[in-house]
Amino acid sequence: MQVSVIGCGYLGAVHAASMAKLGHTVVGIDVDAAKVALLSSGTAPFYEPGLPELLAEVQATGRLAFSTDMSVAAGSAVHFLCVGTPQQHGEFRADLTYVEDAFAALLPHVRPGDLVVGKSTVPVGTAESLAARLAGTGATLVWNPEFLREGFAVQDTLHPDRLVYGLPTDDEGVPTEDGARAQKILDEVYAEPLADDTPLVVTDYATAQLVKVAANSFLATKISFINAMAELCEATGADVTRLADAIGYDDRIGRRFLNAGLGFGGGCLPKDIRAFMARAGELGVDQALSFLREVDAINMRRRVRMVDLAREVCGGSIVGARIAVLGAAFKPDSDDIRDSPALSVAAQMQLQGAHVVVTDPQAVPNARKAWAGLAFAATAEEAVTGADVVLLATEWSEYRALDPETIGDLVAHRRILDGRNVLDPRRWRAAGWTYRALGRP
Ligand code: UGA
Repeated sequence: MQVSVIGCGYLGAVHAASMAKLGHTVVGIDVDAAKVALLSSGTAPFYEPGLPELLAEVQATGRLAFSTDMSVAAGSAVHFLCVGTPQQHGEFRADLTYVEDAFAALLPHVRPGDLVVGKSTVPVGTAESLAARLAGTGATLVWNPEFLREGFAVQDTLHPDRLVYGLPTDDEGVPTEDGARAQKILDEVYAEPLADDTPLVVTDYATAQLVKVAANSFLATKISFINAMAELCEATGADVTRLADAIGYDDRIGRRFLNAGLGFGGGCLPKDIRAFMARAGELGVDQALSFLREVDAINMRRRVRMVDLAREVCGGSIVGARIAVLGAAFKPDSDDIRDSPALSVAAQMQLQGAHVVVTDPQAVPNARKAWAGLAFAATAEEAVTGADVVLLATEWSEYRALDPETIGDLVAHRRILDGRNVLDPRRWRAAGWTYRALGRP
């Protein structure tokens, strides 16, 4: 099938390459000429494990091209909207500028029978208004939210947990004739994952849009729940990691996403829960989501608490202290620094008078652009040399594997803050380190 993918960021670039891998002929379109040039040469514009290999594989087939020219979308049967919806400056609401611009630019090129498939995370109601604007073109809008995780984006796109189609429906919630036809086309697009028994939920526009923000809100709530328990553990001398293990054995709860520490960041969970609250307010049901305010507050408190912990281990003040921060990305296996807890804490400590040196296996170039005032090191060894405190802020496997004896020889003081609860406290303490973590004795 001939497919266009509009927006080639973390979502779109992976989606375009994955669609080509599934056998479709794909054109990826983005307004950023530099990004298009990189992708056209087979280079991933960001760090995502498996993406360079996938790009090379599918580009060799001739089924994947990239362009800045929207008119190349003409001729595609399916157009995926994959642009970003960041938080609006100074507001909780999502900024829909990119969706608006992409849709308006695409509109003149859609033909009768085409599908326009929204994958961006949008406030509920957006799909309905885009569908109204498609009326008259003979094309159909489908809402098909994306659930990929950075770091696992290729795997999540090729082998999703589930597929959700939001289709045009009649008053009884049954897909209209256009909706049924759209489903047939999308079933063809996703023939391979569907053949692997990927669960498919077919529903209306509103539900499909809500599924995405509901999923991210649940995940954020789960993380903040365990971080709230970490606060209780700190007040009582209990260990949040053991608590998470114990409650996680209950299948109804589950151990995944119960890792306490510096909390959630990135380009999705923080802005999605805020945009969801804003949308609920507009719909007159703000009370339904008031708990998300608390989820957000718990999350942000962890960052403040980490700066306090640094102060505690330094004997009351971090002024002039050399602090090594291991990790800048919002999570391992990514170079994404959007709302990164690691950088948020690093910047706070720097502002409060510490000399902070940040390192990360992939995210230093992005971090340097955004936080010019911080110092950066190429390796963990370089960052920790002469450090008064070491903070593990993003749990890259190479930081989890650090040897307390080896790096102990490099630091000025053996003090480690485990911001992600991934180190073995006994091992570090046995090597003479002061070990502190959030929610652990
Ligand atoms: C998230 C969702 O997990 C995806 O399903 C969704 O598709 C995506 O947002 C999106 O909306 O596009 P992602 O932002 O890549 O994916 O990252 P997550 O793996 O969800 O991690 C988010 C943050 O939570 C990270 O900062 C991570 O360190 C933190 N986290 C995660 C914890 O603090 N504790 C945990 O137990 C798990």
